Amino acid sequence: MINDLFSLDNKVVVITGAAGLLGRQHADAVAQMRGIPVLLDINADAVEHLAADIIAHFGVPASGWAVDITKEAEIEKNSTALLARYGHIDGLVNNAANNPKVEGDGAKNFSRLENFPVEVWQADMAVGLTGSFLCAKYYGSAIARNPQGGSIVNISSDLGLIAPDQRLYRKTGLPDDIQPVKPVTYSVVKSGLIGLTRYLATYWPNVRCNALCPGGVANNQDQAFLKEVCSRIPMGRLARPDEYQGAVLFLLSEASSYMTGAILIIDGGRSCW
Ligand SMILES: NC(=O)c1ccc[n+]([C@@H]2O[C@H](COP(=O)([O-])OP(=O)(O)OC[C@H]3O[C@@H](n4cnc5c(N)ncnc54)[C@H](O)[C@@H]3O)[C@@H](O)[C@H]2O)c1
Repeated sequence: MINDLFSLDNKVVVITGAAGLLGRQHADAVAQMRGIPVLLDINADAVEHLAADIIAHFGVPASGWAVDITKEAEIEKNSTALLARYGHIDGLVNNAANNPKVEGDGAKNFSRLENFPVEVWQADMAVGLTGSFLCAKYYGSAIARNPQGGSIVNISSDLGLIAPDQRLYRKTGLPDDIQPVKPVTYSVVKSGLIGLTRYLATYWPNVRCNALCPGGVANNQDQAFLKEVCSRIPMGRLARPDEYQGAVLFLLSEASSYMTGAILIIDGGRSCW
């Protein structure tokens, strides 16, 4: 049956940053297709509640774990615990990232390249790139030990493909040298994930790896920003948080069985303009 293509029946899927806006959507999607979402986040309370919610709603043995993906020892310990509990790991969604702040303190806007602190650069790389590498190292290796393999999905962004349009973040009345900007780390992390995707796609013969490049999600942004950003999107709007669920299921399931090393762009057309 064609519906079975999207089934994740009994597949254990590790989702990083699962307590965030999109992480919980990925987890819900996996559970709805009878998969077992394993929720990782530094926000322990949130992932535990979310896992309990998913168990109650969908009856799958989801679990939530406080794991800081920048810490190799925590990931190693967690991957051992997951294999002891479930016996196998079948999927990984590298979703966690720092959401770098665009605003600065006005006087010396730290988001600007000239002022950007190396500590913030390192912290953003640690979550977005080192964390994804470490998760591939442990959970990806476990997936590769499955005779039937599995799938890794790296959550990049439209800004992994195009430059941020810094005009979107301008504040009237501020001189140019303190205008807020989208920080450089976002572009570097998101394009770096595309490199990691291609590397992993060719590394294990039985593990597919693809990148998903989502466009911006509506999340109570102010009206002036919305008007500007929507004017740069052919579909004229931001995404709803649930609009990436279909793509995540596609990439995790047999529906994309011949797809690896690819970039799936879902951005309302933003990057084709
Ligand atoms: N929301 C958007 O508009 C949008 C657009 C394009 C791409 N994306 C990407 O989608 C992904 C999810 O975005 P979101 O909006 O849900 O972000 P979010 O900020 O709501 O969630 C990120 C989650 O990651 C967790 N996290 C941070 N550091 C961690 C660490 N060291 N270890 C474990 N967990 C950690 C946070 O606690 C948070 O729950 C990100 O990679 C983001 O860049 C988001």
